[in-house]
Amino acid sequence: MQPTDGAPLLLGYFTLTNKILTVPRNAISKSVEKRLARFGPLDNDSNSYSVPMPLIAQLGKNYADGLNAKIDGGDLMSVALKKISAIQYDLSGKYTYIECVDTPKLIEFYERNDFRRIDSGTPETIYDTTNPYLVQMLKYFSSRGEWVGRIDNC
Ligand SMILES: CC(C)(COP(=O)(O)OP(=O)(O)OC[C@H]1O[C@@H](n2cnc3c(N)ncnc32)[C@H](O)[C@@H]1OP(=O)(O)O)[C@@H](O)C(=O)NCCC(=O)NCCS
Repeated sequence: MQPTDGAPLLLGYFTLTNKILTVPRNAISKSVEKRLARFGPLDNDSNSYSVPMPLIAQLGKNYADGLNAKIDGGDLMSVALKKISAIQYDLSGKYTYIECVDTPKLIEFYERNDFRRIDSGTPETIYDTTNPYLVQMLKYFSSRGEWVGRIDNC
């Protein structure tokens, strides 16, 4: 955003990285499994898919000087999703994911943006109270150039 003096304002930020997401078969529906299997192999020992995809590693509004009031989180997310969509247009892929602490407000935010929760944390992580369990949420890009998808939960 440009203020009156012309200097740009930093309203928010996001960072992306490519990671391999491990998805246990028992954490997803059959139709999601069918789609996911196109992008990564099944490991028979762990009964999990290993799928490389972009992780939205950070996403946040800038709370300095009240700048957070000038942008909606959904708009910031749209910028990140457009970027991912463009990357996947060149490199292939239909999924992205996030990891966040299990807080209702954050889960609701990601659900509003069509991310769906998968429970793929290991039991050790889930029950270690000194290390809060990170929820993983997956988003399916339903077609090229379109980043809102709602098929079978994700
Ligand atoms: C996540 C975010 C982009 C959503 O933006 P938004 O849709 O415009 O929503 P808001 O900023 O109005 O926040 C909605 C609610 O979530 C709460 N919230 C935001 N981040 C939170 C967090 N990390 N933990 C707990 N609650 C959080 C807000 O306090 C607000 O609560 P309220 O409804 O009681 O006022 C923005 O809240 C943000 O930048 N949060 C801090 C960074 C962050 O937590 N990023 C996600 C990391 S996984």
